[in-house]
Amino acid sequence: MAMIEVKNLVKTYKISEKEHGMIGYVKHLFHPKYKELTAVNDISFSIQEGELVGYIGENGAGKSTTIKMLTGLLTPTSGEVIVNRIVPNEKRLENNRQIGAVFGQKTQLWWDLPVIESFALIKKLYDIPTREYEANLKKFTEILDLEELLEKQVKSLSLGQKMRCEIAATFLHNPKVVYLDEPTIGLDILVKEKIRKFIKDINQEKKTTVILTTHDLKDIEEVCDRIILIDKGKMIYDGPKEAFKNQYGKHIVAEFVIQNKMKNITLETSDEDFEVIEESEKNVKVKFNHDKLTIMDIVKSISNYCEILDMHIQEEGLEEILKEIYRGDVIYDT
Ligand SMILES: Nc1ncnc2c1ncn2[C@@H]1O[C@H](COP(=O)(O)OP(=O)(O)OP(=O)(O)O)[C@@H](O)[C@H]1O
Ligand SMILES: [Mg+2]
Repeated sequence: MAMIEVKNLVKTYKISEKEHGMIGYVKHLFHPKYKELTAVNDISFSIQEGELVGYIGENGAGKSTTIKMLTGLLTPTSGEVIVNRIVPNEKRLENNRQIGAVFGQKTQLWWDLPVIESFALIKKLYDIPTREYEANLKKFTEILDLEELLEKQVKSLSLGQKMRCEIAATFLHNPKVVYLDEPTIGLDILVKEKIRKFIKDINQEKKTTVILTTHDLKDIEEVCDRIILIDKGKMIYDGPKEAFKNQYGKHIVAEFVIQNKMKNITLETSDEDFEVIEESEKNVKVKFNHDKLTIMDIVKSISNYCEILDMHIQEEGLEEILKEIYRGDVIYDT
């Protein structure tokens, strides 16, 4: 059986339509007007135990709304959510015991307490056996480098320090499923690295199922095997990350170190298939569609204009592919 089963999930928000100013306010008091916004529109997916899934999409696509329904914080307008045999919004307490969640910059730690005391409270709340708690604490302290933070008050920690503690707190009770909604927002590269490594290590060791929402696509590149992409509440891709890249990543970026340039580079091909991104006397950077052109075509053409000394080829990463999808340059199948 799947760990998370979502069927035809819909969430509609009722938004009040108030006119501006005092008059608008009074009018609304007597004749309230509302419109509906469908934030999540008929989404279905199924996630097996131990999967690492990246849940991605533009701002406002409906990611957090979905996560809130999965955690039981929000009740779906229609459709079904089942997490490890539990309907989250019907059995919130039972569900809370089996999940962990991080929501961006909100903290679940006690502001005035030292970190270690927050952890001790979590141990009590979740009834974590002492041995399990101590083993986790030791391991998490090591991977997330928490040693010097444990005695500090939560309110005195920097954003990155707090998030490392937050992540540790989330995994302390060995949850079956963890939802991470933008856990790396605002963090420096090294802290991001630590958090990514931590998620991967714990997933490997404990088969924790993880749904990760983020706008830093390096998080997804490094942590997730599967991607669910949503756009305006609708699911537009669900499948392996590599298949996504093969399906949508049609471009290759090639950089050449050159000399003796004779004139500017042009190719007789359509704009969509070939583009010069940068060009100087010493460098040329081009992007081309590798369904239509080969690297040999490009090398031959460029060597008509100059001498090539060196070259570097790179496939399009997730970030470039998504940029094209968000801009509407790529048509996807729904
Ligand atoms: N409580 C609410 N009341 C009314 N509308 C809401 C509420 N929460 C979210 N929305 C709307 O629902 C849509 C989806 O919002 P959601 O927060 O799920 O997006 P998101 O994908 O998490 O975006 P982001 O990347 O910016 O975090 C947006 O249009 C948002 O304005
Ligand atoms: Mg969000």
